[in-house]
Amino acid sequence: MKPSLPVPSISFTDAAFRHRLTHGGGRGLALAKALGLTKGRTPDIVDATAGLGRDGFLLAHLGAKVTLIERAAPIHAALQRALDAARAADPLLAEPASRITLLMDDAITLLPDLAPETVYIDPMHPARTKSALVKQPMRDLRQIVGEDPDAGQLIRSALGCAQKRVAVKWPRLATLPDDLPKPSYELAGKTTRYVVFIR
Ligand SMILES: C[S@@+](CC[C@H](N)C(=O)[O-])C[C@H]1O[C@@H](n2cnc3c(N)ncnc32)[C@H](O)[C@@H]1O
Repeated sequence: MKPSLPVPSISFTDAAFRHRLTHGGGRGLALAKALGLTKGRTPDIVDATAGLGRDGFLLAHLGAKVTLIERAAPIHAALQRALDAARAADPLLAEPASRITLLMDDAITLLPDLAPETVYIDPMHPARTKSALVKQPMRDLRQIVGEDPDAGQLIRSALGCAQKRVAVKWPRLATLPDDLPKPSYELAGKTTRYVVFIR
């Protein structure tokens, strides 16, 4: 029998993640800016690539109502357990967790039914060569879901139905999938960039 792959450990209750929530930069974070969270504005967000749920949880902690979509069943189950634990924890975690809805589906087909206001997309990209830089849960996630070669389709689906904005996290130096419209702007970091399409 084939040995089963380790399911990534997903937890929002550990000290490191709590620290990230309380000292991580708030609405000054590039993630928050890319999704259009400003002093006076908090959009409803569909995170179409939930993964370990970290970005989605951070956005919910900043006040956004977040719908997480994950298509890989073992990852969806691990996320559900982590969200249940967060809902039973103290208000720092329970409050944002109460604003999160988790769905299991392929976002390419589900997004149009949701008529989302704002969509966030962070697909799996080819592995970085310096694998020591990638933390264990992300390596376990990659073992299970592999890469997301249909990321272009997902972005096009989001662009076809998002009412206000689509923000895509992409490696800084990699080219975007073909046939996308010109982005409205980009926010570049050291290794990644946020590519933003305003509708
Ligand atoms: C790089 S991870 C996202 C990491 C996440 N932003 C975080 O903070 O943990 C990408 C995840 O998106 C999921 N995914 C990719 N394409 C998807 C699609 N079309 N529908 C639903 N889930 C998708 C993959 O299974 C994987 O778990």
